[in-house]
Formats: sequence, C-alpha cells, structure tokens
Amino acid sequence: MKIKIGLLGLGTVGGGVHKLLSGRKEAIARQIGSELEIEKILVRDIAKARGLDIPPQLLTTDYREVVNHPEIDIVVELMGGIEPAYQYIRAALQNKKSVVTANKDVIADYGVRLHRLAAEYEADLCYEASVAGGIPVLRGLVQGLASDEIYKIMGIVNGTTNYIMTQMTEAGLDYQTALKQAQVLGFAEPDPTNDVEGLDAARKMAILASLAFSAGIKMETVKVKGISQVTAEDIQAVKEFGYVIKLIGVAKQENGKVEVSVEPTLLRDSHPLATVKNEFNAIYLYGHAVGQTMFYGPGAGEMPTATAVVSDIMEVARNKKLGVGGKGLWQPTAQPVMKTADEIEAKYFLRVVVKDEIGVLNKITEVFSGHQISIENILQKLEKNQNQANIILVTHRLIQSNFEQALLELQKIPGLVDIRSCYKVED
Ligand code: NAP
Ligand code: HSE
Repeated sequence: MKIKIGLLGLGTVGGGVHKLLSGRKEAIARQIGSELEIEKILVRDIAKARGLDIPPQLLTTDYREVVNHPEIDIVVELMGGIEPAYQYIRAALQNKKSVVTANKDVIADYGVRLHRLAAEYEADLCYEASVAGGIPVLRGLVQGLASDEIYKIMGIVNGTTNYIMTQMTEAGLDYQTALKQAQVLGFAEPDPTNDVEGLDAARKMAILASLAFSAGIKMETVKVKGISQVTAEDIQAVKEFGYVIKLIGVAKQENGKVEVSVEPTLLRDSHPLATVKNEFNAIYLYGHAVGQTMFYGPGAGEMPTATAVVSDIMEVARNKKLGVGGKGLWQPTAQPVMKTADEIEAKYFLRVVVKDEIGVLNKITEVFSGHQISIENILQKLEKNQNQANIILVTHRLIQSNFEQALLELQKIPGLVDIRSCYKVED
C-alpha cells in the first residue's frame, strides 16, 4: 500500500522535502513498511524554475486539488504565514487528512484549536519543524521526556539574532553592520522585523511551553523584547563582568503558574548556551527527574528543516499503518495561569550615565534599597572630558515589579543623565 502525500508549498523547505522523499525513498519505505508518494503540489506559480525533477501534472494552483483529493492521506503545509495556510490546514483536517506543518505562526496562534479539530476528525497534527528546524526538540519533549515533569525551558531559538549577537560580540561589529551581513548570507529576511524584534522566537517559545506545560500559551502573554536596541557599548560593558548577550527564550512553571519571555539576556561567557554561535540553535530542558538536557543543532535551512518534516510524515504514516492515526493524545489540560510582575523574580544588569557629582551614586542605592533591591556587583567608569560617569551594575535576584518602579524613580534623580540599557541576567 502506498501512502499518498499532498504538499502545500514547494519553496525552500518544500524543495528539501521533495529531495529527501525521493533521495531516501527505499530507506523510508523499509522503515515504515510503505512507500510514500507525492500526489499533488500546490504552488503560486507553476512556471517557476525549481531545479527539481517533478512531472508538471503534479503541480496545481488550486488548493482544493490537494485538500479534497480522495487518495491523499497526509497534507503537508509548507507555505508559511497565517492565511490562507490556516484555512487550508482546517480544510484538510475536516476532510480527515492528517496534517504536517512547519508553520510556527499558525501553530502559535491556532495550535489548540487545530489540535481539537484534529481530534474531532481523527487526524494527526504534527509540527516538529516549527521550532528549531533541524533539532528534534518537540519529539524530545513529548516522547523522549514524556515521563518527566519539565519545569523550565531556556534556549536560543532564532538563528538570525544569534548570528547578529555572535558577530557583534566576536567581530566587534555594530548592530546595523551585523544585520546587513546576516541578510547577505540569507539568514535574515529583507524585512527582518519578526526575527530581530523577537516575535519569531516568541512563537517558538509559546509552542514549546504549550507542549511542556500542557497548556495553550497565548502569544500575547509572552514578554517579548528584541535585539535591535543592543549596542556595541553594551556588549563591551557586559564583558567587564564576564557576560555575553544572547536573545534567550525562557519558559518556567512554578507552583502552577507560568512565565514565558524572550529578551536579550546576559549569560556567563562559560555558560553552554554562550558557546552556541552564529546561526545555530540550542534548547535546554530542565526536568525534576532528568535534571538538565540540551538539544543543539541547525535551527533552519532547506535540508535540516526537511528532516523534521519528513520525520513527521513518517510518524503519521506509521500511525496509519498501526491503525492509531488520529489518536494523538496531546490536548491542553487547563488554561495556563500566568505570573504577574509581582511574582516574577530575576537578576538584572543596568547601565546608567550620571553626572560626576557628589551624592549621585548614593541616591541610586537609596532608590534600590527602597524597593528591596540589592546590588551584587557595581563598576563606575568616567567618560572622558564630559564630567559624566558610566555606572554598570548587576543586582541580586529581585521582584520584577519592584525593579520596574525603581527604574521610574531613577529617572527622577537630578544627576541621572540616561538609563542606557537594562538586561535580564540568567546565571
Ligand atoms: P518559501 O521558500 O517562501 O516557500 C513557500 C512556498 O509556498 C512556495 O512554493 C510558494 O509558491 C508557496 N505558496 C506561498 N503562498 C501560497 C499561496 N497563497 N498559494 C499557493 N502557494 C503558495 O518558504 P519556506 O522557507 O520554504 O518556509 C515554509 C514554511 O516553513 C514556513 O512556515 C516557515 O516559517 C517554515 N520554516 C522554514 C524554515 C527555513 O529554513 N526556510 C525553517 C523552519 C521553518 P511559489 O513557489 O510558486 O512561489
Ligand atoms: N527565521 C528563523 C531563524 C528561521 O532565524 O531562526 C525559521 O524559523
């Protein structure tokens, strides 16, 4: 029996999937006991040169020829964006076809609804490629660590920003030059907003947290700050304390409450995540039984991402052969209760510029002690010829709402020129 596949999209990832399915046809058939065959492919432009050996009759511009095709068992969505991809996935599931997708936008926004729809129509829904392309972290979480209670996830889940931060740290580039270099190399898109403002990473963290904590984490509850404001001066300043800056996603569950964030974060330069360079991704999972385990590898790219998609296709095909298709058990068990700023604890790095006058430092420490904030490390550097000083400090763990109030008060100190930067610290 052949298992038939319909592709929605034949771009970078779709092309990789076609190459992998044809190049490893026999090996895949041996593993799942059935041949996989692409039956129909949706594209925007049939005439486009693709460098793939594809019979022209396979291509269509009408999605219904894929999602309504009576012989297609698995629909693979590789178009990207929310619409029309979301509607096409819904239509496929409602036709009792299992769906594999690499689309983090759709899964982050509609994952819970799609899981319900898949359960209703007894179809499988898999999306390994939506987080960290070539790293099988969702399967690691849901299957490999199924027996454990995962309470924290911390990772680098965006290659573009990790490339930019690596180049700023190691080659001394400024932000704009590093971004341009990332665009020339094809990591960053012409409009890099989703990557550099942290939205891409936030979607991936929402998906990871939803699976880890069995809860539908909504994007609007993720605290997001990108890297576009990180300066070369910040990179130098944090080096003084032995830190590097990375765009880090964190998801934690404590006492039944959840926090999820993506922000530029200071890590010790010896931290394993600090050694993850350029476009690579890495994700740490913390479980009560397993302790800490790290997944590392390429987060994107044609063939790495295709491995995740094809592995999902193989899982769905196996389920079908075993007669357990559509019996996927993941469902959110409860609405997550998100922590408030009064419940979130963190350490922070702060860089302020002050007038070089008597009593300014004293006023800063007064504001901090008024909000229960203790300083772990502090350094002052005079700015040449300006009668100003740079004060850089790292706090002990504090309550986030206290810190927010302290920052507002600091701005009122007469000798304070500017709060230049403020970053979370993960030790
Ligand atoms: P891509 O190169 O832009 O390819 C998109 C494909 O979808 C193209 O074949 C395009 O047709 C087709 N398409 C788009 N909109 C369509 C529409 N309205 N009707 C019909 N066909 C349409 O995108 P990609 O890089 O392969 O990414 C695909 C998905 O994988 C996205 O969700 C992305 O986030 C995810 N992903 C990508 C990577 C990566 O490294 N690229 C990594 C992880 C996840 P034409 O070819 O005719 O234009
Ligand atoms: N734009 C993403 C990144 C790859 O830079 O990691 C696709 O998820």
